[in-house]
Amino acid sequence: MFLSSSETLEGVPFSRSRITLVRLMLPTDVNFAGNVFGGSLLKVLDEIAYVVGSRHARQNMVTASVDRMDFLAPVHLSDVVHFTGQVTHVGHTSLEVSIHIEAEDLHGTSRRTVGNAYVTMVAIGPDGRPVPVPPILAETPEERRLLEEGRRRAEERKARRPTGGGSP
Ligand SMILES: CC(C)(COP(=O)(O)OP(=O)(O)OC[C@H]1O[C@@H](n2cnc3c(N)ncnc32)[C@H](O)[C@@H]1OP(=O)(O)O)[C@@H](O)C(=O)NCCC(=O)NCCS
Repeated sequence: MFLSSSETLEGVPFSRSRITLVRLMLPTDVNFAGNVFGGSLLKVLDEIAYVVGSRHARQNMVTASVDRMDFLAPVHLSDVVHFTGQVTHVGHTSLEVSIHIEAEDLHGTSRRTVGNAYVTMVAIGPDGRPVPVPPILAETPEERRLLEEGRRRAEERKARRPTGGGSP
């Protein structure tokens, strides 16, 4: 779907940013017991958040935070992993991407949820500073509900964010 500049200014439809990336788990992704490293999944998580965020904002994006990531079930060598991402909140210069991760065996006979996460991406202008992102437009009651949940998570995230830097 092509969006003109004026459509981007008015807002981007909720459904536009939904994307699934599929990855085959290779020998380089696993430990000696054949279990996939958490980091292999986190790398793709970051990748899909970047693609989803960039498609919405049409700006360079950086990862500001990844909310708690629980690995709910093991993933093995030769599993096929599906990462589905969707923008679920838009702030002023940041947006939230909700990511659902499922794994299935190579032949697709069984599929299970292996993780969920929320990634906050910030749009960055040519001077390296945050720039505004276009609003998101809900078209159905379900989309409105998901955006309301995203707004609440964004508020909670902001409330618990550390205010300063410093050494660990
Ligand atoms: C993310 C970053 C650009 C924010 O810069 P900043 O000076 O704090 O900018 P601001 O205070 O203006 O915040 C900009 C937006 O980011 C959000 N934000 C900032 N830090 C955040 C965090 N830790 N988690 C979630 N959102 C965050 C703010 O809420 C704000 O959102 P809004 O405009 O929608 O309200 C900056 O911390 C940075 O460059 N971090 C490194 C990013 C990076 O390189 N990531 C890749 C891994 S190294």
